[in-house]
This record gives sequence, C-alpha cells and structure tokens, in this order.
Amino acid sequence: MKIISVVGARPNFMKIAPIIKAIEKHNKSIGDSRLAICHLLVHTGQHYDVNMSKLFFEDLGIPEPEIYLGVGSGSHAEQTARIMVEFEKVLLREKPDLVIVVGDVNSTIACALTAVKLHVPVAHVEAGLRSFDRTMPEEINRILTDAISDYLFITEKSAEANLIREGRSKEKIHFVGNVMIDTLLKNREKADKSQILPALNLRPKNYAVLTLHRPSNVDIKETFKRILEALEDIQKHVKVIYPIHPRSRNRLEEFGFSKRFDFLSINCQPSTLNGFVMIDPLGYLDFLKLMSESKFVLTDSGGMQEETTILGIPCISLRKNTERPITVEEGTNIVVGTNKDKIVGESLKIINGNKKEGRIPKFWDGKAAERIVDILLTQKYELNNLG
Ligand code: UD1
Repeated sequence: MKIISVVGARPNFMKIAPIIKAIEKHNKSIGDSRLAICHLLVHTGQHYDVNMSKLFFEDLGIPEPEIYLGVGSGSHAEQTARIMVEFEKVLLREKPDLVIVVGDVNSTIACALTAVKLHVPVAHVEAGLRSFDRTMPEEINRILTDAISDYLFITEKSAEANLIREGRSKEKIHFVGNVMIDTLLKNREKADKSQILPALNLRPKNYAVLTLHRPSNVDIKETFKRILEALEDIQKHVKVIYPIHPRSRNRLEEFGFSKRFDFLSINCQPSTLNGFVMIDPLGYLDFLKLMSESKFVLTDSGGMQEETTILGIPCISLRKNTERPITVEEGTNIVVGTNKDKIVGESLKIINGNKKEGRIPKFWDGKAAERIVDILLTQKYELNNLG
C-alpha cells in the first residue's frame, strides 16, 4: 500500500506526526515486507518560516518531507491553485493508493481535490467539524474536503451528525479520537524540560497566554483594535504573553497599532506580575510548556481549544462560535466572542479563582493514529479479498 500524506501549515504538523509513527510501527511489526506501507510525506510549503514549520519537524521528530512543493503565501485562489498544480505532478508520478489530508487549511482542500480528480481515494483526518460560519475559509475547506473524501476520521460525535446531515454515508465515518492529542500526550514529558518559563521570567500559574490570527479578528481593524484594548485592560491584572503570528504582526503594523503595543511590550518589566509581552511564534515544545503552566489561555485557534481541555487549563475563545463543541460541553472552553467587556469580564473571573473544570473527551487517549492506520489496513485487506 502506498500512501501520500500532506502537510502545509503549522497546525498540520502535530496532526501528521503520530500517523507517521503509527505507520512506522506497523512496518516494524510485520514479518512480510510486502505488507509494509510505503509512505511519502508531501509539504506544500504553505507555511515556510523556520518557526512556523522547520522547528515543528525538529520538536516532533518528523522525518524531512520526501517532497516539498514550495508554494508559499498568496491569495486563497493563488495558493490553492499553486498547490493543486504542483501536487498533481506528484500524484501522476507516484501513483499512490491513498492520500491522507488533515485539518482544514488550504493545503487540505487543494490536495484532496487534486487526488479525487485523479481517482485516488482520500482520507480526511479531523472530518465533520462545523462552525456553521461560511465566512471562515476553514469552514469552506472542511465542507468541501468532507464531501469528496472516502474515509472520514472524526474526533468527536458532533462531527458524525454533521456529516450524516450533509449526506455522507455512515460506512465512511470512523470515530477514532484526536491525533493532535496523541502528539500532546506523547510530548508532555519532553515539553516539561523546556526552559521557556525562566527565559521569559515567568512563574507557573502567574500569567496568561494569548494567540490571535483568524482573519475575522485581525484583518478587520475595528475588531483587532477592540480585542487589543481588552488585552490592555487584562494585562493590568496579569502578565499576558503573546507569541504573535506573522499575519497578525503584518496587520498590527498596517493598522498603525504597533507603536502602542510594541511600547507596552518593550516597557514590560521582567520582575512584575502584570504587563503585555509580545514574542515571536514558539516551537511546539516551548509552546506546550507555556500553555501547560499558564493560568488561562485567550485564543481564536481551534486546536488550542482542544489542547487546553486535555491540560485542564481554562480557555477563553475569542470567537463567535466553535466547530469543536465538545470543548465547551466537556472541556474547559468558553466561547466569548469579541466584545471587549465580555473578554475582560471572563478573564477577571478566572484571575479571581473562578475556573471552569472539564473532563477528557472519549478517545482522546493517545491512540487515534493507531486506530486510523488499523482501519486503513483492514479495509484495504477486505477490498483485496473482494477482488
Ligand atoms: C493558516 C490557515 C489557518 C490556520 C493557520 C495556522 C488557511 C486558509 N488558513 O492561516 O486555518 O489556523 O494557518 O497558522 O489555510 N506568513 C509568513 N510566514 C509563514 C506563513 C505565513 O510570514 O511561514 C504570513 C504571510 O504574510 C501570509 C500570512 O502570514 O500571507 C498568512 O498565511 P496563510 O498561510 O495564508 O494563512 P494563516 O493566517 O497562516
């Protein structure tokens, strides 16, 4: 069986790492080398900065991709089209039996679409999540990828209902758990050795972590300003650490906010318990450590809603909705939107000791990738037996 897996953007790397490990484990466990999976990793190059890509390969021990498409940044159409043109050449040359795509970024839909047009089956890992907000580019990517995939691997039960409602057949849907949590559980001990806390003069539970990069939050001047002003208030009560995404850094400068917030950050004293500190994006292990020891997290990321649920860290989602409802129903996530008073109010509740407790969702147990590889192998075997 020949499989091509695709990564492109930062959140893809932690999702593919355990799948590669599970394939390696399968290949080592079998006596007959004809039953081995031949695996190729394709990196589209959607993210290319060292701290948005290479650092994650190093931290997670992912082997160098066999194929790098080098597409870089661009408008949605440009980026998606460039990936498709380059990926088609790869498929025609390599003729895989299956393509695995993860998550909801432009690389996900671009490669899935290219593959199905060449009649190559597609497996979508993290299928069925829906925010019901079609202004999010990720929502479009999710709906379209699910519509054309042959294997739909889901992380939570709500995804099954979404997929059935959209007409997907039950046989294609497999509830396997969460590969990103596989990576988190595997790397917790390693992350514990990170020196990021002393490097930033932080003490456990004395600071909050902020991430912000959604176009709906940072590409709209008024919204970005409102969120930053909420943070200006919050940082009077607790130190806020903000590893800033390149998209947000660009907007900060473009909208003329950088002077005000760079000033806050530059003047934040290492010894004080409050203040606002902007830093470059971190690698996986440093960031996991930073998140694990924080008092709470403010974010518009989807993945971090899940990671904080496992870590038991309160998460304030700076969005109107979530495609991961289990993080609210069972986890530590609360969705507050972008109203300044609401963001400050919920943060103060946590600062004053009022924290939401959660529990660990079903199958978020470190074994999702192994379940995926087992299903792929079993179904391949059954298909072969059917002739
Ligand atoms: C992409 C994903 C988003 C994901 C996020 C994680 C899509 C539609 N969006 O958003 O779902 O949550 O990645 O980070 O696929 N840039 C750099 N260096 C890089 C990469 C990007 O400077 O290595 C800058 C460029 O100016 C680029 C901008 O960031 O234009 C946005 O990058 P892009 O990949 O288009 O979207 P993200 O906002 O990163």
